[in-house]
Amino acid sequence: SIPIIFDTDPGIDDAVAIIAALFDPKIDMRLMTTVAGNVDIEKTTFNAQRLTAFLGKKIPLAKGAKAPLIRNLDNAAHIHGHSGMDGFDYDDELTPLLADNAVNEMYKLLMSSNEKITLVPVGPLTNIALLLTLYPEAKEKIARIVLMGGSAGRGNHTPNAEFNIFIDPEAAKIVFHAGLPLVMVGLDVTRQAILPPEIIDALPKMNYACNMLHKVFGHYRSGSMKSGLTMHDLCAIAYISKPELFETKACFVDIETSSELTLGTTVVDIFNKLGKSPNASVCLGINVEGFRIWAKNALSRVS
Ligand code: BDR
Ligand code: CA
Repeated sequence: SIPIIFDTDPGIDDAVAIIAALFDPKIDMRLMTTVAGNVDIEKTTFNAQRLTAFLGKKIPLAKGAKAPLIRNLDNAAHIHGHSGMDGFDYDDELTPLLADNAVNEMYKLLMSSNEKITLVPVGPLTNIALLLTLYPEAKEKIARIVLMGGSAGRGNHTPNAEFNIFIDPEAAKIVFHAGLPLVMVGLDVTRQAILPPEIIDALPKMNYACNMLHKVFGHYRSGSMKSGLTMHDLCAIAYISKPELFETKACFVDIETSSELTLGTTVVDIFNKLGKSPNASVCLGINVEGFRIWAKNALSRVS
């Protein structure tokens, strides 16, 4: 199976991605790290602690950066609720946190690993940028970065920018220019990755994890996503588990960090106008039907 480090800001779609990843036999999550994004770092970390404990998965978990590299934290509580995972109201144990911070724990794990590890960030890229900047020697141990973020088209947080990139554009710039193999799973595909109510209603209701999903989904659905749930972060896991669901193109991608109007835009040079070498494999197409079948199977595995 594929060893990964999962960097996350749960977040409802983060939570769904965590569930799918932890039960996928093709994926071996060696470490989970948290970052500030959808809500603040205390809440994203608490959500990761209670969700992993609830799922009964003993996963090494480390707390990450509490603010973007140079900017103030904006958030997405309007979508995910004040807790970041509204609808999840189970009292449970909390997975203990590792002693060191996320960046140091990632570094230690990478350097002690015999095989290269894939980084899967599905929140702002703050932790990953810090890792690559503080410990460039760790790059040799990174197989690739498969991230949820960005867009070759329009944005979801501002007209042009996707949320994860907008929150910490300087971090994104560092990550995209790190010279590592990078897969950008952005809005071009995640916006199509909608789980319609029929699929959610058809998920088994027999076990507690599924009941939890129904509750969380129910909450999400009462808000802005009545016609179906957009599973942004789950697409990064789908890409690792079943890459043939996606069409990709190797492109040069840069990040806008100075314009007020287009801050955080991923400028994807699809037609190679700049004549630069590609630095990312950009997901431009998704087999939506195939994704739905994959997601249904992935979420039915929870026990
Ligand atoms: C991204 O923003 C967050 O709200 C989601 O969890 C996802 O990672 C989508 O733009
Ligand atoms: Ca996220």
